[in-house]
Amino acid sequence: MDEPHIPLPTLWPLGFAVGIAVVLVGLIVDPTIVSPVGAAIAVVFGFLWAREATSELRGHAVVVEPETRELGVPEQAAAEAPSEAPSFPRSRFLEAVTLGLGGVIGGVVTVPVAGFALLPGFLGQKRHEVDLGPVTDFPEGKWFITTFIVDPKEGDVSRRTAFIRNNGLLGNVPSFTIISNRCAHLGCPVQANGPTGAILGEKNVVEHTANGPVLLRPVVPAGFGCPCHGGQYDTEGNRTAGPPVRGLDRYAFDVKNGRLILLSTYSVTHVDGTGAQAKIHKYKLAGPGEHIDGVEQILYPLQPPHH
Ligand code: FES
Repeated sequence: MDEPHIPLPTLWPLGFAVGIAVVLVGLIVDPTIVSPVGAAIAVVFGFLWAREATSELRGHAVVVEPETRELGVPEQAAAEAPSEAPSFPRSRFLEAVTLGLGGVIGGVVTVPVAGFALLPGFLGQKRHEVDLGPVTDFPEGKWFITTFIVDPKEGDVSRRTAFIRNNGLLGNVPSFTIISNRCAHLGCPVQANGPTGAILGEKNVVEHTANGPVLLRPVVPAGFGCPCHGGQYDTEGNRTAGPPVRGLDRYAFDVKNGRLILLSTYSVTHVDGTGAQAKIHKYKLAGPGEHIDGVEQILYPLQPPHH
């Protein structure tokens, strides 16, 4: 029978694609472990794929002439018979060169652009510690709308606001409630529901720290409210009304040399109790609108990096 020469299907391209997919997923989930595993898979399968694709070029394949088969010569004998046909025709060679050059040019153009566009979002995610000044600026039991700069190199772009209350000591350990003003619905800036500064007869305080100016505005909040879609929270950041899917995020903190230092942020479903006695149901930082508990959390399996 005169059948065209069709290459056997191979799994190597599939393995290569899986490796690339693992690399991309790893950039989101865990760039230090998952991405290198994906790269290793891609390299191994890419090598096997390239090896197979170039096997004819390396002279491993033998062309069987249709006429030989028609004469009734057994296929094995025909395969062993010398053939005058070129083992790697010029058309196949040009096809391979064209595809190869296209791939190289595509890679040279695409990889740097994609790298510059995507990598900064995944690298340099180091959380900056923020010096908010001496803890004596935060009298026990009082709330302050505190505005500060996270990274002096980025300037006002990294300006953030947190609602801070000194809860006094829990044993010998200082206790602060430090709530982010990023709404848990879509991220609008949440406002304190209550009088501030001059109405209270109290002055704002400005501290100049290593992070730049820190502004403390006294406030007596009945809760916190979001101007965008009416989300409401109590003074522990628990959602009480509106569309937010969870409570407000919080900041971890430390007290070093008598100064209040902000650390990383984390997400909170809800808080039981208040102040120093509060039991905080905390989770890894998630984006606004993302459920972090219950069955809905399976809709958000991958958490992109957040500042
Ligand atoms: S962003 Fe706050 S309620 Fe929608």
